Order: sequence, then C-alpha cells, then structure tokens
Amino acid sequence: MKYNFDKEINRENTNCVKYDLRDKVFKTEKDIIPMWVADMDLETPEFIRNAVKERAEHEIYGYSYRPETYYNAIANWLEIRHNWKINPRSIAFSPGVVPGLALSVMAFSQIADKIIVQPPVYFPFFTTIKENGRQISENNLINTNNYYSIDFDDLKKRIDARTSMIIISNPHNPVGRAWKREELQELGEICVKNNIIIISDEIHSDLVFAPHKHIPMASISEEISDRTITFMAPSKTFNMAGLSSSFAVITNRKLKKIYNSHLESLHLNLGNIFGNVATEAAYTKGADWVDEMKNYIKANIDFAKDFIDKNIPQISFVKPEATYLIWLNFKKLNLSDKELNDFLINKASIGLNTGSVFGKNASGYMRMNLACTRKTLKTALSQLKQAFSYQ
Ligand SMILES: Cc1ncc(COP(=O)(O)O)c(C=O)c1O
Repeated sequence: MKYNFDKEINRENTNCVKYDLRDKVFKTEKDIIPMWVADMDLETPEFIRNAVKERAEHEIYGYSYRPETYYNAIANWLEIRHNWKINPRSIAFSPGVVPGLALSVMAFSQIADKIIVQPPVYFPFFTTIKENGRQISENNLINTNNYYSIDFDDLKKRIDARTSMIIISNPHNPVGRAWKREELQELGEICVKNNIIIISDEIHSDLVFAPHKHIPMASISEEISDRTITFMAPSKTFNMAGLSSSFAVITNRKLKKIYNSHLESLHLNLGNIFGNVATEAAYTKGADWVDEMKNYIKANIDFAKDFIDKNIPQISFVKPEATYLIWLNFKKLNLSDKELNDFLINKASIGLNTGSVFGKNASGYMRMNLACTRKTLKTALSQLKQAFSYQ
C-alpha cells in the first residue's frame, strides 16, 4: 500500500459541515461520531493538494478558462476507467452536480411537467424538481430483502403526455446499486420510445466495487446517448466536494448548446481556478490512489457487515455494489423515525441520515457513511452494539 488511509485528521473547527454543524443538525451537545454527509474523512490526495498549492502560489487569482488539457484529462479517464470513449467537446462545466441537475430541469422541461425519480433516492432530486415548479413522479424501487431493483411495469404505467424527464442515480445513492447494463438498457429504451430526457447522475461512478462495473447510461447506445445528460465529478472520489467543480457530458450538440446557454445566462460557466486544476490533477494522477482507496472502503464495508451480522441481529443491510454508503434496515425495532434518531444520537452517539428523507418508502432505514478510518468505524459500531445491549 502506497497510501495511508488510517491517518486520523481532525476536521473540527474548519467550518466542516459534517463535524462543525453536528450540534445544529442533531440538536445535541454530545460528541457524536458523524457518519452522515457524503464526504470522506480520508485525506484529499497529495497530488491534488499540490496542484492547488502550486496555483495558489501565483500572485493573481483572476478570471480563468479551462484549458484543453482539462477536457482531455476527463475524456481519458472516462475511456480508461469506464470504457466510455467521448469527444472532449461534449464536456460542459457545472459548478456542482446538483446545480447541474437543476439547470437541466430548467433547460429541458416545462413548468408543471412530470419528472420521474426512483425513491428512495438522494433527496435533492426532489427539491430540484419541486422548486422549479415541476411535478415529482415517484417510480419507487422494488425492495427485496434490502436489495433494490427497478419497477419497470410501474415506470411504463406512469409515463403520460406531461412526463418529459427522468433523473436517475447511477450508481444509486442510497441503496448502493451499480445498475447492470440490461437494467439501464431497458430503462433507456423506455425513455427513447416515450421521448423522455434522461438525466443520469453518475457522481459515484468511480466508487464501484469489483466484480460490479460502472456502466455510463449514455454508453449503452447512440439513441440513448442522444437524449442523456450525464453528470460526473471528482468530488466524491477524491474528497474535494468543497471545490465546487463538476461536469456534464452531453453528446447531443443541440442539447449541449441549450445546456450551455442556461449555464451562461447565470454566469456560472467560469467555475473556479482551484476546482479546475484539482480536477485535472485528479484525472491525470489519481488511478492508483482510487484503486487503493476503494480497497480500504471495501474492507470497511466487509468489516461492518461481519460485525453487524455477528453482534447486532436487530439490523441488517446488503453490501453496496457502489458508494461508501450503507443502507441500514432498522425496521425490526418498530420505532418511529424520531425515536430511531433519538436512540442513535443519545444511546449510540452516532449521527446518520434518516431514511425517510430519501423517500416515503424508506422509513425505518438509515444511511451510514463508511468513508472514515477503520478505527472510527470500529468505535462507531461498538457504540451501536453497546446501545442495543441497554435496550
Ligand atoms: C447522487 C448524488 N448526486 C449529487 C451529489 C452532490 O453533488 P454536488 O455536491 O456536486 O452538488 C451527491 C452527494 O452526496 C450525491 O450522492
């Protein structure tokens, strides 16, 4: 191992959302272990910090554009890591994935249109739709013993004349599925047939564990690519979410032009110089680091699975195929969300995300972020076990 992921880093007093907002979010003075917000406690790799430092050393931080090397770095990464060959010209900037989703809603649907999402799902999907005056259409995932799949019958039934778009999470946060080619193909073909625009949020694409693979939605076929806007970012993978830098891949030139005109109308296209250099460094220097980081996270997931199965039979989960998030089923406890949260905060001293925030079908579930050191994970799980022993 070239990198040390066991290194403990104190994030307190850095205006860090995950740590420094604990008291407000969990309404407690207790020193709870924060395992909620999806960023990592593992250090942002040195080659990214060096790229940022080098740029920071220059005396002026004026307006800058993204050079050809930035676009080529992304295109090379996608080809090597995901077997997806794209023209660098099909890349458009986005200040973040969620802003990109919101821009797409504005650009490619009309007020009052129906937009499909697949709950339980990353909750800003709901707000980007609702707050832009569109209607949410919920194609709930099918839950079979904590393993989730797409309900294609429901999907077909719910499409009507007002349905113009679907937003998918590929891989899926929070249920951890890395959708298979056949699943994406079936979904894509339904969208082609019904003239639905596909927004594919692929922010977790670099966090898929073998033997599973990330399949970019737009790589399935030209017809599907023609109606797909793909959002990706180095933010989750390289722990640099604070740099506000992501991108869209839009192979359909007409759609790309429309997307860019919305981006430019808000003057969001420049981005920030540190995000630009960090992105380029990540995608040119990051392959080994990502492989090692994924091994570490996978070992955390395996550890959590063993520990919970052996020690806490009241809860269960299926190992995620992707993401550093686990989706824990607490339904056996028969607690309301509030009671469950109180139990986790006050008895176990851990802070997780409440399931019902991800969808009405997810009450009794909790999302736990395992992108922490093994030591922190062991402490958190021991606290959880202890809490159950007092129950
Ligand atoms: C599926 C998904 N999309 C988007 C984001 C956030 O993207 P950004 O911070 O770039 O807006 C997250 C963060 O957890 C996520 O899980």
